[in-house]
Amino acid sequence: MRGSESISSFDHERSRFEQDVLRGLATWPRSLPCKYFYDERGSRLFDRITTLAEYYPTRAETSLLQEHAREIATRLGRAVDLVELGSGSSAKTRILLDALIAPARYVPIDISAKYLAESARRLSASYPSLRVEPRVADYARPMTPFAMPRVATRRAVFFPGSSIGNFEPDEAIVFLDRARQIAGRGGVVIVGVDLPKDAAVIEAAYDDAQGVTAAFNRNLLVRINRELDGDFDVDAFAHRAPWDAARRRVEMQLVSTRAQSVRVAGRRFAFAEDEVIVTEHCYKHGIEDFRAMARAAGLGAGPVWTDSEVRVSLHWLDA
Ligand code: AVI
Repeated sequence: MRGSESISSFDHERSRFEQDVLRGLATWPRSLPCKYFYDERGSRLFDRITTLAEYYPTRAETSLLQEHAREIATRLGRAVDLVELGSGSSAKTRILLDALIAPARYVPIDISAKYLAESARRLSASYPSLRVEPRVADYARPMTPFAMPRVATRRAVFFPGSSIGNFEPDEAIVFLDRARQIAGRGGVVIVGVDLPKDAAVIEAAYDDAQGVTAAFNRNLLVRINRELDGDFDVDAFAHRAPWDAARRRVEMQLVSTRAQSVRVAGRRFAFAEDEVIVTEHCYKHGIEDFRAMARAAGLGAGPVWTDSEVRVSLHWLDA
């Protein structure tokens, strides 16, 4: 981040956070946008989630990528401009980068500035000849277009990790349309999508025995207390993650364990016992359902890969 620009963008982000939180707490059912999970502690907790025995999506997608990275790299060809939306630690991207043929550039895009800078630094150290150009941005919002390096042959927008499932289905189509525009003519969008499966497997993935996901969920209240002058009693909100079979989604919730009143940014909110704050939806899309969503976004549905246990899928979509 640079000089005074970083101060004003910080204020801007803070006021957007405040508006989103106040709006979410004032609606029914109460909700908070899941993108705010990822402050520095939240990003680290999420990294821990990805290593948990119960959280199958990361392991499954990693093995899928290991198995098919070469084929994907061959399809992409030389000198690709690789853009990753919500790059986090870029752990899975390394598998792709190892297989790519002379990539022209890697552009990791993430909402967490500090975390992004750290990941980009580590990546540059591992790949000294790779041009790495991190960008701080919220990938869920429209993005200013950016040019490809002159040597690049095509752009690939990589969106692994099943994060597409955190959008409502209609928002996912809008997002895919935006990803298509970022990829541009001749480009490709590669998306990781978690598949519907046994409810017990999914619920365990979102409510692990060590309580890391619970800490990740409650950290949103910690962040609100710190950044928005809140006084949430964090321990008075229980973590829940029920699977909704009809809508094929997990709903992450924080449930008030007693009647209580909470102050946020100078406003008061009364909670009844058992009142729920919805913090995230994680949709699981079947292969054909997701291909139909991609087509609705103007993308050409290409090959689909799944892991050996058919837990997750990776879709090649032509822009
Ligand atoms: C980032 N996203 C794909 C994760 C998911 O599985 O929906 C976030 C997460 N929430 C709880 N555990 C992981």
